[in-house]
Amino acid sequence: MQKFIITGGCRLSGELTLQGSKNSALPIMAAALLGEGESVLRNCPTLTDVYSASRILSCLGCKCSISDGNAVIDPCGASGSEIPEELMREMRSSIMFMGAILGRTGECTFSVPGGCELGPRPIDMHLAALRKLGADISDCGGRIHCRIAGGRARGAKINLPFPSVGATENIILCAVCAEGETIVNNAAREPEICDLCSFLRKRGADIKGDGESTIVISGTDKLHGCEHTVMPDRIAGATYLSMVAAAGGEIILKNTCTAEMEPFLSVLEQTGCRIYPAENRIYLRSGARLRAVRDRIRTMPHPGFPTDAQAVLMAALATADGASVFEENIFDCRYRHTAALCKMGADIEVLGKVAVVRGVPKLRGADVEATDLRGGAAMAAAALAAEGTTCLSGISHIDRGYEKFEEAVSSLGGRIRRV
Ligand code: EPZ
Repeated sequence: MQKFIITGGCRLSGELTLQGSKNSALPIMAAALLGEGESVLRNCPTLTDVYSASRILSCLGCKCSISDGNAVIDPCGASGSEIPEELMREMRSSIMFMGAILGRTGECTFSVPGGCELGPRPIDMHLAALRKLGADISDCGGRIHCRIAGGRARGAKINLPFPSVGATENIILCAVCAEGETIVNNAAREPEICDLCSFLRKRGADIKGDGESTIVISGTDKLHGCEHTVMPDRIAGATYLSMVAAAGGEIILKNTCTAEMEPFLSVLEQTGCRIYPAENRIYLRSGARLRAVRDRIRTMPHPGFPTDAQAVLMAALATADGASVFEENIFDCRYRHTAALCKMGADIEVLGKVAVVRGVPKLRGADVEATDLRGGAAMAAAALAAEGTTCLSGISHIDRGYEKFEEAVSSLGGRIRRV
């Protein structure tokens, strides 16, 4: 099991080019399974989750190769409809292949990914929506079988009880090849959904309203190949900015999606960091001690404050002057990083969905273990700000979402080694 050894206490400084978005690349890879023709994805991040998606595509009969930040996917001849349990277990996001497989073959067998990383992650909304699109769904000993009579989904009106990102993506993936029109009300508005729709439109799909609460999809049986550049990763961006905010120093972040990062930037700015945003780059300088954020930081669906940036911002606020209050409204169990931050000297009290972070003057290095992706990144940010050395284990979580993490941190002058 690999670990990061991080020695904190030095200011960070440098330029960093932001990686492509994991949460955009994964559904786009699933979408490449639909129709015919080769899809070339540029700026595809090199991550373990992306390789897991590639293994799922290969197992379904797609040709998929990844090199130098490009993924080339050819679905010609892909007739598989089953995802083996071990591939489902590799990556929780494997669930989003369900809509695409159904859209392609009218049939799909998979299992619910296990584990409890962020609390329960049910898939009831995904299944209810696919039923509306015509799927019969049965559960046989943990294996879920979906089948659409006649092989082709039928457009429907779907009202989501909550704007779930994954359920919205699964509906789009299934409805894009359906017969007739699908209307999704209370759809998720995350930028990664817009990137998925923009990819599908390049392939010939007819989708309107993405980025808003109602999405209208007119099904087609003709999707062709295309080239697409995956959008920048706004959460990796939030992570590197939080890291420099925590440790002090300055950063020029390049290849950003600045407008999409605004809900995060507007909160980070309240800490007293100087932030100069431009269209596709962000300059941040962090000098004296950060200030606590006065208003409660409530995680909400986009365009609210992103749940994925909660942990990394908390690491920065652990040493701010005053108390900041977080309210986690998306996942039930997304404060697991707080125990590690407290071991490093932070003063954080968790009461249900609320976490009160009282800034301390200094953190100190400790032996800690990442238990999820963003929590692990928060521990690394805290370690860079801390006095002394941190041994961070469980870093396979970090490798799921951050491309060449230690190279990125080292390029800013952070002292980090993988052992
Ligand atoms: C996506 O997860 C992201 N993952 C997550 O990023 C992100 O935290 C989340 O959206 C919210 O922004 C990917 O894009 C691969 P949801 P997803 O469905 O689709 C409940 C990261 O760190 N729910 O919007 O799984 C669910 O339990 C990851 O990169 C149901 O109850 O999120 C949760 O409480 C982690 N039933 C809430 O909705 C369902 O059928 C939001 O989940 C589906 C979801």
